[in-house]
Amino acid sequence: MDILEIIKTRRNIKIFKLDPINPDKLHLWLEAAAMAPNHRMTEPWEVYIVGPETRAKLNHKTNFGDAPVVLAILSKHGATAIETEENALATACFVQNFNLAAWAEGVGTFWSSMGGNPKNREILGVPDGYDVIGVFGVGYPDETREPKQRTPIQNKLKQLL
Ligand SMILES: Cc1cc2nc3c(=O)[nH]c(=O)nc-3n(C[C@H](O)[C@H](O)[C@H](O)COP(=O)(O)O)c2cc1C
Repeated sequence: MDILEIIKTRRNIKIFKLDPINPDKLHLWLEAAAMAPNHRMTEPWEVYIVGPETRAKLNHKTNFGDAPVVLAILSKHGATAIETEENALATACFVQNFNLAAWAEGVGTFWSSMGGNPKNREILGVPDGYDVIGVFGVGYPDETREPKQRTPIQNKLKQLL
């Protein structure tokens, strides 16, 4: 797939096969993710690989679609509100790099925002000074999802003088 096809076919996946993910591949996609733009090279992301005990405590309603891997992706706060916001933006870029690198190899992700909940933060052991950008199931899709239609981009364009 070329890059446009990878971007345009990616879906948030909710049902996964039990097939394991090669740890070397996972490492490769995380390294690619870390090439994300980040202001002042703060590299604000941290990745928790969620083990079975923690995963069971999270008690996600579909168990992340039975994904073989679950990752929590955190973003460190900055010294100011603006830096914290910029760090979260950088970590979102990290997430999308990861999503696309995995998707290019037939692997999907299930983005859950459950990590924002204080109880889940505690279960994950997230220290103060970090946002949880998402908790992600990662695995080979066991469903086919057509791309969701977007608003025509023309409707989002504004020509300035
Ligand atoms: C910040 C953020 C939080 C999200 N949280 C959830 C979530 O809690 N549960 C969920 O099913 N999808 C979640 N999603 C995925 C979106 O629902 C999904 O991206 C959107 O419906 C578009 O579908 P697509 O990604 O397959 O194109 C989240 C996405 C983002 C960017």
